Amino acid sequence: MADPAPSESRRKTLKLLLGSGATALGAAIVYPIIAYLKPPEVTGEQVTSVLVGKVDDFAPGSGSLFRFGNKPGILLRFPNGSFKAFSATCTHLDCTVQYREDMGLIWCACHNGKYDLNGKNIDGPPPRPLDPFEVVVKGDEVHVTKS
Ligand code: FES
Repeated sequence: MADPAPSESRRKTLKLLLGSGATALGAAIVYPIIAYLKPPEVTGEQVTSVLVGKVDDFAPGSGSLFRFGNKPGILLRFPNGSFKAFSATCTHLDCTVQYREDMGLIWCACHNGKYDLNGKNIDGPPPRPLDPFEVVVKGDEVHVTKS
């Protein structure tokens, strides 16, 4: 049997090149769309404990924000030296709360929401208390864990 004519061989090669080019083009268009639509992994939810700092980093009668994964937390140190910690995400519309020494409470600047130093919502629109964390002091280190 004779070899195919040169023009037929070129036609097959051209079809092969066009076919693989079309496949590569389709993948180049579809992959970014799928990558865009797929939600990112939420790694912050996996965090169960963080080292916030040394005991001496926190003055008695103070409040400090810290990162708990990808969320803010608030650590309070009371005048007697004890600690409490809460999620610093306001239960109203997710603004970050802050410690207000002058008011003696935890305050949300977004809509004037107020929490007492036990994290209980006491005034303004927040519908429920702040989520509590557990504070564990190991030697001179302050660790916060989800309770
Ligand atoms: S978001 Fe905090 S009071 Fe509205």
